[in-house]
Amino acid sequence: MGESGRRVAVFGAGYVGLVTGACFAELGHRVVVRDVVAEKIDALRRGDVPIYEPGLDDLLARNRDRLSFTIDVDEAIDGAEFVYVAVGTPPTYSGDADLSAVWTVIDELPRVDHRVVVCMKSTVPVGTGEKVRHRLDARGLEHVGYVSNPEFTAEGTAVRDFMEPDRIVVGAFEAADGDAAAALHGGIDAPVVRCDVASAEMIKLAANAALMTRISFINEIANVCEATGADVVRVAEGIGWDRRIGKNFLRAGIGFGGSCFPKDSLALKQLAASSGYHFQVLNAVIEVNELQKRRVIGKLKQLVGSLRGRRVALLGLAFKPNTDDTREAPAFVLAGRLLAEGADVVAWDPIASADGLHGVVQVATVEEALDGADAAVLVTEWPQLAEVDWSSVGARMRSRVLVDGRNMLDPEAMRAAGFTYDAIGRAAR
Ligand code: UDX
Repeated sequence: MGESGRRVAVFGAGYVGLVTGACFAELGHRVVVRDVVAEKIDALRRGDVPIYEPGLDDLLARNRDRLSFTIDVDEAIDGAEFVYVAVGTPPTYSGDADLSAVWTVIDELPRVDHRVVVCMKSTVPVGTGEKVRHRLDARGLEHVGYVSNPEFTAEGTAVRDFMEPDRIVVGAFEAADGDAAAALHGGIDAPVVRCDVASAEMIKLAANAALMTRISFINEIANVCEATGADVVRVAEGIGWDRRIGKNFLRAGIGFGGSCFPKDSLALKQLAASSGYHFQVLNAVIEVNELQKRRVIGKLKQLVGSLRGRRVALLGLAFKPNTDDTREAPAFVLAGRLLAEGADVVAWDPIASADGLHGVVQVATVEEALDGADAAVLVTEWPQLAEVDWSSVGARMRSRVLVDGRNMLDPEAMRAAGFTYDAIGRAAR
């Protein structure tokens, strides 16, 4: 695209902002990424990427000429045709989304004379666009456009998810703004869903809720499988072939975590409640997930008795593989519960850190984690764990007990390696 590239300012240099900025630069646009944290901007200017996201370093390096980083709002907005808002919207104590960072961006927007389209990437409650529109109008910025352009990128595959999405969603008040935001994605081959702003906001929340519902559903099926002697892995395969159901997001395990699902489920629950509706399915999805994280404790007690003074190895801390993100990670809840039961907790993870987990000893290798352990829990399905020679590392443990929280390992092979092996929804033999 080169010369025909548009000028894009991205507010927020977190996962979403950096991926958005790097991908738009890859599509040929000139991008300025703005963040309030000076150290982050300095690091990015030096070429250091402050987060772990596969492919992002390469993308940023390859598009250096089209990318710049600043803490200065005016510098970011200067000549920008699009202002992407990609700041955090963490939950407040009430479970509502905290929009203060979003409002700061809107209020700091300088009085531009030229046409600019504000594009919302951050996940916000339905109705936010309407409020932003009013606020812009009240500031005399009627000529500034607004669209909702939610992201559906998962950590670890964010670059691919952006460049090869299942769909692009653009919700606009004015058709011309929607056209412009859709055209910005030129070069990406995907259906574009055009709609009003509120619907675009709801699409994001509903997509996440649908995925979470599938996970809690299969986790409940797993729990019933355990009680009845069925195997959830076979069950998921058997229902997944049904085209109406599909195969994705039917992996039973110890529950979902991460920076989106837990936060967005609470936000949607609160949004519904504040609008006078009790969202029953979503409440159940959240509760099932909370209970699922704790079920492993019961399994361990069944296998080794009291956990007091027992050494338990947690294999994996990240909320899923290929990320160093531990936000809302099931491992943290598990560690807290184990410590409360009086266990000694040792943790291994190839990149995520146990920082903030007081009382947990982090070690560098799986072998060290298993040394003298009374039991191990496979928490995150890191590919490295499939390569472990379980029969030899098992010899380091005080007792060969493993609860596979992700149904990653082969039950027969583990039992042949001398393990008392239990998993999720696979009737223990
Ligand atoms: C998710 C959405 O996929 C993404 O579209 C949205 O923009 C942000 O939230 P992410 O949190 O990065 O992305 O991870 P994802 O791969 O979706 O996994 C979320 C959690 O669900 C993880 O803890 C994962 O282990 C768990 N999960 C996922 C399951 O337990 N079972 C499954 O079948 C799938």
